Amino acid sequence: MPLIAILPGDGIGPEVTSQARRVLEALGLDLQFEEAPVGGAGYLAAGKPLPDATLALAKRADAVLFGAIGDPRFDALERRLRPEAALLAIRRELGLFANLRPATLFAGLEDASALKPEVVAGLDIVIVRELTGDVYFGEKGHRTTMEGLRQGFDVMSYDEGEVERIARVGFEMAKRRKKKLCSVDKANVLETSQLWRDVVNEMSVQYPDIELTHMYVDNAAMQLVRRPTDFDVIVTGNLFGDILSDQASMCAGSIGMLPSASLSAWSGANGMYEPIHGSAPDIAGQGKANPCAAILSAAMLLRHSLVDEASALRIEAAVAAALAKGARTADLGGSLSTSAMGDAVLTELQ
Ligand code: NAD
Ligand code: IPM
Ligand code: MN
Repeated sequence: MPLIAILPGDGIGPEVTSQARRVLEALGLDLQFEEAPVGGAGYLAAGKPLPDATLALAKRADAVLFGAIGDPRFDALERRLRPEAALLAIRRELGLFANLRPATLFAGLEDASALKPEVVAGLDIVIVRELTGDVYFGEKGHRTTMEGLRQGFDVMSYDEGEVERIARVGFEMAKRRKKKLCSVDKANVLETSQLWRDVVNEMSVQYPDIELTHMYVDNAAMQLVRRPTDFDVIVTGNLFGDILSDQASMCAGSIGMLPSASLSAWSGANGMYEPIHGSAPDIAGQGKANPCAAILSAAMLLRHSLVDEASALRIEAAVAAALAKGARTADLGGSLSTSAMGDAVLTELQ
């Protein structure tokens, strides 16, 4: 029986993962669930954001459903003790280098987007974000300059192996979709990006059917709000992918709509599934959070780790049907609570 590790985390994390769990349970599959604290909750339970038992569970599980971490109460702790350290450590420990972040506009949500309905109608893009390298994982620290000024530094780097394996995910994803891949970098300024662009270009000869373009990240940010539907698959580094995916979420109506899959292999392997949003301290504990991103992350879990495409499609169809009937949390302009939104999806699942 597949074991699903549920790591609810902080803030709205537990609120949204509990709805995703209800949906998974309602499918009637033979699944086993085990929960463990992570982030601020891990720190409170065991003195560190990623307790040993939580990491062991994540490794042992067939898939991990993650909520969100982050709590302003812990922002002043040394970096290794902050909630965010746990998330980065799990990604690294499980080798989850490929982060798929689909941004799809569900029919009926055109008016929820910050952009004009005609600009976002039909939006269906995937951001493939590299997840275990870049400035996130380079040497970092702080020191005092010769002039006596405090200085912070974070080293940005990629080696060609890291670029090649994420670019391959981008090409393979494009192959299964509209065959358009846009690689986003800052090669006009950064050596890291020049290597990125060179490697992506070298690989493109293996994918003659894929229309490859390159875009600087500043232009990509602009094009994402100008003509988002021109994109199909975007492949980019860790930091640029983090920023562009939050931006893309507003093209799809709300950050509460975007799920993600963090993978070490395309399918059949342990992976971690989480909404792209954070712990949302401003609305935590009020039952206001949109659980759709977490529920859609559960669908990605079934698709990629459990290789159960039919169940994944069932969940996605239920979310679409609930939205089509007007079910909306506050971020989408409605008034449903987190659990009422979960109810609406469950009703459609039955
Ligand atoms: P955030 O994503 O938590 O919130 C940004 C805004 O979006 C807030 O106004 C919030 O209320 C809203 N929002 C987010 N998710 C929502 C949902 N499901 N439904 C409705 N509204 C939603 O980003 P932030 O405020 O910059 O960060 C808060 C904390 O979360 C920080 O500690 C940060 O480090 C952490 N964080 C964690 C993750 C993660 O766990 N993967 C991701 C991003 C940020
Ligand atoms: C995300 C988050 C994380 C990231 C933080 C909390 C470490 O923003 O999952 O998008 O930057 O990757
Ligand atoms: Mn982010």
